[in-house]
Amino acid sequence: MKAITALLTLATAFTFALSPGNTAFAADDDTPLTKEMNGVNKDLRKLKKQVADASKKDENIGLVDDIKKHLVTGRDMEPATTKDQPADKKAAFIAKYKEQIDSTIKDFDALSAAIKADKADEAKTLLEKLQKDKEQGHKDFRPDDK
Ligand code: HEM
Repeated sequence: MKAITALLTLATAFTFALSPGNTAFAADDDTPLTKEMNGVNKDLRKLKKQVADASKKDENIGLVDDIKKHLVTGRDMEPATTKDQPADKKAAFIAKYKEQIDSTIKDFDALSAAIKADKADEAKTLLEKLQKDKEQGHKDFRPDDK
């Protein structure tokens, strides 16, 4: 019985490993923009946990710098949904995308300033604003199946 259970566990693990939606394994079909976004996501999750921790101030400033680098790189890429836009609307679509990335970068600049000035409340408010930037950006530019 133990052997059967072990076999079943293994089989389940393999099925999981091979399933296309599984992101625990390197996904080579990720777009370059998705890779930058994943970088933003990882840093931001860490930052949210420790933003009020004064002993991590330098690290937190570094995390914001790193996030900004990912966004600056991603700004020069086109969202995958660009291909679904009519030819005469593509340029405006990309311009709007860049505008929203720029305003998100500005909010990260403000967050960096708040951290540097030890303004934890302001940092928290800015993190909430950044959550809205993300939601809006994804609503406007990310594929629907995500
Ligand atoms: C500020 C915080 C943000 C975080 C943490 C974040 C996170 C992510 C993550 C994890 C993905 C890949 C996985 C998935 O699709 O869910 C993604 C994809 C994407 N995000 Fe963001 N995002 C942020 C802001 C934005 C903004 C402001 C925009 C647009 C102005 C944007 C546009 C996109 C697009 C277009 C994709 C799909 C990738 C592609 O088209 O190739 N994101 N984002």
